[in-house]
Amino acid sequence: MRDRECKYLQDFAEEPAGEREMLGSWMKLAAALVLGLTAFGPLHAGTLEVSSPDGNITVAVSDEGGHATYTVSYGGEVVMEPARLGLLFADHHGFEDGLEIRGTADVTTTDETWEQPWGERRLVRNHYNELRVGFIPKEGPARAMVVAFRVFDTGLGFRYELLPTEALAGDIRITDELTQFSIGGDADAWWTPSRQFNRYEYIYRTGKAAVVDDAHTPVTFRQPNGLHISIHEAALVDYSGMSLLALRPGSFEAELRAGSDGIKVHTKAPFKSPWRTIQIAPDAPGLINSDIILNLNEPNKLGDVSWVEPGKYVGIWWAMHIRERTWGNDGIHGATTEETKRYIDFAAEHGFSGVLVEGWNIGWDGDWFNNGELFNFTQAYPDFDIEELGAYALSKGVRLIGHHETSGNIANYEAQMEDAFDLYERVGVRQVKTGYVADAGDLVRYDDDGVKQYEWHDSQFQVGHHLRVVEAAAKRKISINAHEPVKDTGLRRTYPNWMTREGARGMEFNAWGTPPNPPEHISILAYTRMLSGPMDFTPGIFNLRPNEKPPVREDMQRGDASNRPQTTLAKQLALYVVLYSPLQMAADLPEHYEERMDAFQFIKDVEADWEDSIALQGEVGEYVAIARQGRESKEWFLGAVTDATPRELLIPLDFLEEGKSYTAQIYRDGANAHWDTNPYDYVIEEMQVTSASKLDAALASSGGIAVRFVPN
Ligand code: NOJ
Ligand code: CA
Repeated sequence: MRDRECKYLQDFAEEPAGEREMLGSWMKLAAALVLGLTAFGPLHAGTLEVSSPDGNITVAVSDEGGHATYTVSYGGEVVMEPARLGLLFADHHGFEDGLEIRGTADVTTTDETWEQPWGERRLVRNHYNELRVGFIPKEGPARAMVVAFRVFDTGLGFRYELLPTEALAGDIRITDELTQFSIGGDADAWWTPSRQFNRYEYIYRTGKAAVVDDAHTPVTFRQPNGLHISIHEAALVDYSGMSLLALRPGSFEAELRAGSDGIKVHTKAPFKSPWRTIQIAPDAPGLINSDIILNLNEPNKLGDVSWVEPGKYVGIWWAMHIRERTWGNDGIHGATTEETKRYIDFAAEHGFSGVLVEGWNIGWDGDWFNNGELFNFTQAYPDFDIEELGAYALSKGVRLIGHHETSGNIANYEAQMEDAFDLYERVGVRQVKTGYVADAGDLVRYDDDGVKQYEWHDSQFQVGHHLRVVEAAAKRKISINAHEPVKDTGLRRTYPNWMTREGARGMEFNAWGTPPNPPEHISILAYTRMLSGPMDFTPGIFNLRPNEKPPVREDMQRGDASNRPQTTLAKQLALYVVLYSPLQMAADLPEHYEERMDAFQFIKDVEADWEDSIALQGEVGEYVAIARQGRESKEWFLGAVTDATPRELLIPLDFLEEGKSYTAQIYRDGANAHWDTNPYDYVIEEMQVTSASKLDAALASSGGIAVRFVPN
């Protein structure tokens, strides 16, 4: 035992400076174990506390009754009642009962600012107080669990760390994580159901916390006192995803997604779990104005990432969703050389950096959803000349954006992945969209004995797969945009080439979803899914009734006419500011944009990478207004959207630089606009403003406003 620990402490001593602070308490705990656990007497009454730098949030950690618990207060009031912590293992004694707090009560402070290569803001302040609490069971083999708490002004994170003692030697198989969250049944909740076939792609449910049974995170709550709380996780690496399973009405336990062998996590000590995060804000925009998730991730591991290029793109994509073209090669194939050139020309003319092409490679004919093993990632259909198109795009200052649909057959994809990225690298591709269309729980892998197994999209296996893809891509200076992904937990900080992803209902549901995304969808997304990170929602549909066009062929009947974006056109523009993604698509067909070039101008002007972002106003499920400053132009942009209720917002423009005057280019709903009856009623106008001005924004039913501020 001593040898293992010495080795471990040596390893730890070699960690970079950032880790050194935690070393002190680790060493004391390790020493306590070596000395038979007696050197460290239990701490006073068994309760330790740590508060946020501004003092508003306090976490009290206790071992009362032999259980590890934490309690969260805000402004001196308890807002999350005592909730349990702990871990259970298949082959080792776990951490549940008979626990005592040992170690130090020292609170350390970190206050640093780091720079994002791209993001919602360039400079991120990471300011927190940390308390590391050691829990040691009074009985059984000697073992220690440290729970590290970091408390920020906008919430907190905590994670489990295990020491490599003899009692925890060998493979550790986690059968249960006992972490609980006490919200209170009376809180309002916005969530999507977990462990359902459509992965994360559900219409948000709205109701009391008491009726939430099994929810994906981030899940957002509003307590009767008005406090907003969002529960999620950060740095999900080599662990399985967590959903919130109701224990009692309004109180939840972390439910880890089990692997095909029934085990939730395979690991070894030393070990650190992902962070469990609790964002806390007095109002809804406060949830958006928090960087907790990023701050709890490790710094960039890839070194120079100047090749990761945010930008806007068009693509051969919506045409398939509205049944004008097909992915497969059957006469109206979308991904032809000729059609791709048309998109490249359009991109070059209007300043887009990329052209996504789906359906270019062998495997789409027939039932692609169920035949992932047929996808070939290096062989193009005969009517798609990838080499020529790569060169053609580059000659026009544009790059192809690649596409790898796997249909969830991970084994087939991993076998071809290196070659597939080599090909894309050779033809100048810098971004690849991946896809995992398969029912939840149906990802295919073969185990060590060659036996076929099915895994969840948020399993430890798939979490590992995503990082294998991201690392293979990084070697070729390629960035990833994953669809049907595991949820975002901020890993873009560590792997800046993992740029964006889907992981919620995007625009595609407005082509064929039954029902399509409802008018309140964006005003919920902004305060739930978007808290986890960027989303490739693919905004900018200009033909708002696509299914009313006649079918292009007898066997290509369009979807139901009710399948359409349930928004005004001005709201489509506002999405470019409201929904953050460093890769932002102009999703409609070139010919639909050509019909409304005046409105298209906003999409041409808006940036996809930001110097700063500020959520200004809003209520979950009702409306949201966000301002962002372009990283390159330093121009400010503003976007606001509402649900089905029309509303008039008065938005102070105090984010603008004081003393400067600006021309506001405004794209807004017209007086008679309504998403259903009159979606194309929009007005484009200019106005002179300063930081002292207030913008009077009248939003129609499911309407929006988009503004560009050009300094005079
Ligand atoms: C689902 C993705 O979300 C969509 O964007 C893509 O076009 C299809 N899968 C086909 O890969
Ligand atoms: Ca999807």
